Amino acid sequence: MNNFIFSYPTKVYFGKGCVREYLACLLKKQGPTVLLAYGGGSIKANGIYNEVSAILAETGKTVVEFSGIMPNPTYAKVQEGARLCRENRVDFILAVGGGSVIDCCKVVSAQAMTEEDIWEMEFSKRTYPTSFIPMGCIVTASGTGSEMNNGAVITHEEKKLKAGVLGAYNTFAMLDPEYTLSVPFAQVMSGAFDTLSHAMETYFGKPHDRGNLSDDLSEAVMRSVIANMRQLLKEPDSYEARSELMWASAMAENGILKLGKITDFQCHQMEHQLGAYTNCNHGQGLAVLHPVLYRHIYREGAARFKSFAVKVWGIDPAGKTDEETARLGVEALAEFIQACGLPTRFSEMGIPADTDYRAIADSCNLTAGCCKKLTREELYQIFLECR
Ligand code: NZQ
Ligand code: ZN
Repeated sequence: MNNFIFSYPTKVYFGKGCVREYLACLLKKQGPTVLLAYGGGSIKANGIYNEVSAILAETGKTVVEFSGIMPNPTYAKVQEGARLCRENRVDFILAVGGGSVIDCCKVVSAQAMTEEDIWEMEFSKRTYPTSFIPMGCIVTASGTGSEMNNGAVITHEEKKLKAGVLGAYNTFAMLDPEYTLSVPFAQVMSGAFDTLSHAMETYFGKPHDRGNLSDDLSEAVMRSVIANMRQLLKEPDSYEARSELMWASAMAENGILKLGKITDFQCHQMEHQLGAYTNCNHGQGLAVLHPVLYRHIYREGAARFKSFAVKVWGIDPAGKTDEETARLGVEALAEFIQACGLPTRFSEMGIPADTDYRAIADSCNLTAGCCKKLTREELYQIFLECR
């Protein structure tokens, strides 16, 4: 195994009623002024806003609202949140939403503590923030796993880049699967596919010629996500399936599956740049890209793709070459995506035909963990095949 250091800064409260049971107690430990951050208003429609506001009032907090955090949060929105924190001397940030709200708040929590431009600091100077306004989150849509890591994915509109920025860890993360029952079904499947993608992107990272404990755990996470997505197709409101997916989401991105691995995440790099140019839905972009990308690389990673086929999709390798078994695994993934009603082409996502795929391909990072050494020209071909 590769060397690693591991610790767990986020305390997770999981299950039905956890916000009602624990939030007041957790807030009492924080300062008097709380930034209540949320998205476009779903929390007002489903009652979560009222529930959380009542707890904030009961604990005597001064509440500063930071609303309208958009899917694919922008760097300009981060600056707005940081200004609010400074002007109101915010002591604690409470993010209530999906990955977009949590990501935006992680970077707000760092940007509010420094006059330096966080983007320039991280990408030009390669220095990283060390002081943060403490934050916690209440997850309302699962999939990204943002609640248990310190990465945030932010779109810098002027630079046309969507990239990972390091921010704060949540001191606590509250995961009540009932809160996800109002998420539109297409978003539920998109989020769940994002989780599957995180596990795959880790599993296909290096080393991919031999397995380790992290790979075994990844296989378990992938099988569980697939089974629970299938269950939701039969029973969309299943609490059990949604709770399994909610925990799988956190598990796939809390670092455990990545121990001892150099992760791949080539598909994510491509989807993020697609998002920078088109503002597309993250999980849906991944669903279109994954099978096409994998058809380009499975031969180079045949041993690992064979394991994926056999252990995740139950394909019988008897009488087949490794390469044939590997290819069948990729096709099983493609069929699953279609069966889940996820898009299989960019056109189904409303991405215009005249999108500048050359510019997108040219601005993608090429990752060290991918089993094939790709070129930007090949990325461009992959984007074209996805149209
Ligand atoms: O804005 P609101 O009104 O909250 O509506 C949201 C949004 O329209 C809605 N929603 C959330 N909870 C709901 C709900 N609607 C009804 N009922 C509820 N309970 O769902 C829509 C999508 O929300 P969003 O937060 O954008 O989705 P998701 O959680 O998939 O987050 C996507 C963002 O996370 C980034 C993505 O790139 C994208 O920007 N990622 C973050 C990662 C991380 N920090 O570790 C890793 C991922 O790979 C990913 O890149
Ligand atoms: Zn993702």
